[in-house]
Amino acid sequence: MSTGAPLACRRAAVLSDLLQQKFDPDTAEANHRQLYRILQQAILSGELPAGTQLPPTRLLACDLGIARNTVIQVYEQLGIEGYVHTGVGRGTFVADTAPDRIAGFDLITAPARRGNDGGSLSCRGKVLLENAGAGKRQWGGFVPGVPDVTQFPARVWSRIESRLWRRLSPEMMSYASGGGYAPLREVLVDYLRTARGVRCDPRQVLITTGTHHSLHLLTHLLADFGDGVWLEEPGYWGARSLLQIAGLDITAVPVDEQGMNPGELPLRRVPRFIFVSPSHQFPLGSVMSLARRRELLEYAKSTNAWIIEDDYDSEFRYGCRPLPSLQGLDDGGRVIYLGTLSKIMFPGLRLAYMVVPENLVDGFALGLMELYREGHLAPQAVLAEFIREGHFASHIRRMRTIYSERRVTLIEAIHEHFGDALPVIGSAAGLHLVLGLPGDVDDQALSARALAHGIVARPLSLYYCDKRQARRGLVLGYGCVARDEIPREFARLATVIRECL
Ligand SMILES: Cc1ncc(COP(=O)(O)O)c(C=O)c1O
Repeated sequence: MSTGAPLACRRAAVLSDLLQQKFDPDTAEANHRQLYRILQQAILSGELPAGTQLPPTRLLACDLGIARNTVIQVYEQLGIEGYVHTGVGRGTFVADTAPDRIAGFDLITAPARRGNDGGSLSCRGKVLLENAGAGKRQWGGFVPGVPDVTQFPARVWSRIESRLWRRLSPEMMSYASGGGYAPLREVLVDYLRTARGVRCDPRQVLITTGTHHSLHLLTHLLADFGDGVWLEEPGYWGARSLLQIAGLDITAVPVDEQGMNPGELPLRRVPRFIFVSPSHQFPLGSVMSLARRRELLEYAKSTNAWIIEDDYDSEFRYGCRPLPSLQGLDDGGRVIYLGTLSKIMFPGLRLAYMVVPENLVDGFALGLMELYREGHLAPQAVLAEFIREGHFASHIRRMRTIYSERRVTLIEAIHEHFGDALPVIGSAAGLHLVLGLPGDVDDQALSARALAHGIVARPLSLYYCDKRQARRGLVLGYGCVARDEIPREFARLATVIRECL
């Protein structure tokens, strides 16, 4: 290259030389695989920083002595995965994916910024607490997501429990191993197949202490710092917190009446996880259409992304049968199904499960043991018996009727106070509904005011990553407020709402 060549050409030639030094034409590794690996590693290590222009395909092919098509194919693959982007007619450039600002905190300067007073929180801790979504009140009108625990057949439970404790083996009081109490996993397989269309065998069912626990394990075993995740916008704050502090790069994907809609996204790179609640989107309540389900499954299959299906309350659907799970449609082994017993039984039980694809079974069973020293076998055994004896199914049936009546009562109260002025959002399902508010109402201030009057009315904007774009509303749970108390409780809330409109 002559010294008079334009700067860009000189840089391209230098880079091409550098790649030539790394490239070994005599190895057994296929040319495209080797070039892909070299470029990927150079980008990940920062050797090729964001903005670097890759050599033109013709030049690089010539310098490496390989076909130009091979270089084109490698650039295209890196483009699909988000490592590079191509400006039409301008060349191929390294994309800005360096994890120096993930999840709202600066990773590189984090330790320095933490301070050294011994008592200060980590940067990760600060991010968690600053964005915390958990409410302090977990009972009463209108706490969302909490079932009516007073209706739980406690006598039946305690009868089974005392029977079991009389013959409890030492093994049942020791640490657990391998994913939980085997008979519980067996009965759950039957239940999941008939009620949710989930296809699995008992080894694929792993018992955890809650959805957060399942997610924690997932992030530890399947994701690395800086991996991407798609979250529903709006979505479940608990999932957002966990995925955020795991250092994942969150992309908020809008939700419409057919569920998560990634169609319009400028696809920066393939996510590692796609977190969805297809049976009853949380909190807006839409049901993901079959077309969207198939699209998402196809996308995950072709990109090796993991879909995390949060099926948290679909037992409670009023008027029509619950839709089968996304997992049941998956023929690529890309769905990890999360279920919880918090809504059907009671949240304090802290029992949940995940159904993982066949190839993850052994790793996850070992991961559970290694990370958490599993236990909790006695309540798992009581639950297995509770299900086997039919109490589980009859409790679901009974509660479905109760919640359905409460939902109707709450909607009637809303109409009585506001007519059609404020929309009720969401399908007839679950333990909550969303009351829409005009866009100029500060739902967080309204919620704080309601709380001062002793009423929980969670602001819809809280569930958005981008609060500025948030739709305004109130997420109202009817699971833990008696039907005859709903009109009075809502009348008190309506007074606060009117003051804020
Ligand atoms: C959307 C969503 N997913 C999952 C859960 C269940 O969480 P857990 O199993 O930890 O009780 C909840 C609880 O409120 C929820 O709202």
